Amino acid sequence: MSKPLRKVVFPVAGLGTRFLPATKVVAKEMLPVLDRPLIQYAVDEAVEAGADTLVFVTNRYKHAIADYFDKAYELEAKLQEKGKDELLKLVQGTLPKHVRAIFVTQPEALGLGHAVLCAKPVVGDEPFGVILPDDLIWHTAKGALRQMAELGQAEEAGVIAVEEVPADETDKYGVVDATPVDERSARIRHMVEKPKPAEAPSNLAVVGRYVLPGRIFELLEATTPGAGGEIQLTDAIEALLKEQGKVLAYRFEGTRFDCGNKAGLVRATMHMAMQDPKLAPVVREFAGKL
Ligand code: G1P
Repeated sequence: MSKPLRKVVFPVAGLGTRFLPATKVVAKEMLPVLDRPLIQYAVDEAVEAGADTLVFVTNRYKHAIADYFDKAYELEAKLQEKGKDELLKLVQGTLPKHVRAIFVTQPEALGLGHAVLCAKPVVGDEPFGVILPDDLIWHTAKGALRQMAELGQAEEAGVIAVEEVPADETDKYGVVDATPVDERSARIRHMVEKPKPAEAPSNLAVVGRYVLPGRIFELLEATTPGAGGEIQLTDAIEALLKEQGKVLAYRFEGTRFDCGNKAGLVRATMHMAMQDPKLAPVVREFAGKL
């Protein structure tokens, strides 16, 4: 893992059932927090971490994501004609010029591990990141993935983002058993996907950021269906741990919003509005009224 991270995988083939009926036609990754879709926050974080190749693992219902990162000729021409430079910059800025987006399909929904495996032909044998766009991580200094990529490179190890969650919610997450190294990082001893609270080794849950070696693909190929009958990334990381002995859990600096559910999306929206000098008074006033 001594190489810098250049590629980031975005598994975006999920159905988004928690946001039906909107997600009948709108990919959940396109749901906005204020004026930017969730996928834009995720892409910005990947680019900030040094990525120049973004791999979207998508399905037939997610064409909007490809469209969003594509050039919008007509719109751009109109904005240019009208001299709306600020808007033009926004439209053209969804993907920086030096970054390429590659789309691969996941033909069947066989689990997160399977989705990541679909990116193997593009990623090959080099360290890469995984971002689950549902988890929006707000930060003031370095983005979460960048923090993790730096640690992974320095320690020559895979790095998994973790956060403490309420003890009765372990069955929503991958959960780690880890020995602390310092304030933020710990060496993982064991990982388990969605354990019942009584069986969970801790309340330290995996959140949607990973830095992994290319070797994980071969381990994923050998992974059989686990929790929920799905091919789990957590199980392949557990295999990596057995093989390489060192995978780190990392408590990132930043605030995570689980935008895979309504409460999280509301929180993220209010939080982002509070960062905006024009919107903050609106939120304060309206929240007071409510
Ligand atoms: C996935 C992972 C799980 C992780 C979670 C974080 O689960 O399998 O280990 O804790 O993302 O959001 P999912 O939310 O796809 O069920």
